[in-house]
Amino acid sequence: MAISFFLAPVLLFLLSSPAFAADSKNNPADQLVAVINANRTTAKSLALFDNPGLGCIALQYIKAYQGQCSEVGNMKKPPDSSFADTFAPNCGVQAQTLSPITGRLLGCQSMYINPEEAFSNILVQNSQSIEILHNKNHTQIGAAVTGTDGGSPYFWCVLFSNGMKNVSFVFENGEAKPVHPGCFSGNNDECSSGFRFAVRKSGIWAVVALALLGLAYIH
Ligand SMILES: *[C@@H]1O[C@H](CO)[C@@H](O)[C@H](O)[C@H]1NC(C)=O
Ligand SMILES: *[C@@H]1O[C@H](CO)[C@@H](O)[C@H](O)[C@H]1NC(C)=O
Ligand SMILES: *[C@@H]1O[C@H](CO)[C@@H](O)[C@H](O)[C@H]1NC(C)=O
Repeated sequence: MAISFFLAPVLLFLLSSPAFAADSKNNPADQLVAVINANRTTAKSLALFDNPGLGCIALQYIKAYQGQCSEVGNMKKPPDSSFADTFAPNCGVQAQTLSPITGRLLGCQSMYINPEEAFSNILVQNSQSIEILHNKNHTQIGAAVTGTDGGSPYFWCVLFSNGMKNVSFVFENGEAKPVHPGCFSGNNDECSSGFRFAVRKSGIWAVVALALLGLAYIH
């Protein structure tokens, strides 16, 4: 009951959004991509291809923080080498298809909020993040959300890339590996189980990190 009540506004929003059609309505990472693409197209930037390989990498990127929200605030980030060394193999993404990351939005908060709120309340709050959001060099996007051990804190990660659609972040056997816990975008994954939508009224704190172009160039 509490869950459907909580999600109702999100679904209403997404049903009215043209970007909704392609992805799963039960996956908060897909919903976040829909919100981002709707915002981009309104601002006359192109909608981005939702690449599941990049989405899975975004989930690995979150996992590299091991639940430590404060490290997001400290602007710490996983070493660039982890893309090839751990993220790609964990996702079954061919290492040679890794492409440059042209932007990143990362946020962490104690409370689960819906994707639309995560977008406007955590991830996109200042001119720097709007610049990342609307950057015309991006061609692809991957988003992920996860709680630590299925609970608080909740991390949201959006990675942007300028890689070409069919040849970047390609899965070894053409199919995403199941990666849990957490949800990532582009995988047509319902992602309604294995992820707990905990709603809490107290102890709200949020940490956000942003990075401009050239954050991670993967070779
Ligand atoms: C796009 O997102 C920014 C940042 O949240 C917001 O200020 C702007 O109003 C949004 N644009 C639309 C059309 O929703
Ligand atoms: C897009 O990429 C080019 C080449 O790397 C760079 O010179 C330019 O500043 C970038 N544009 C934006 C808006 O970041
Ligand atoms: C991507 O794949 C589709 C279908 O396999 C093909 O038609 C298209 O030309 C490819 N695009 C690129 C940029 O390789």
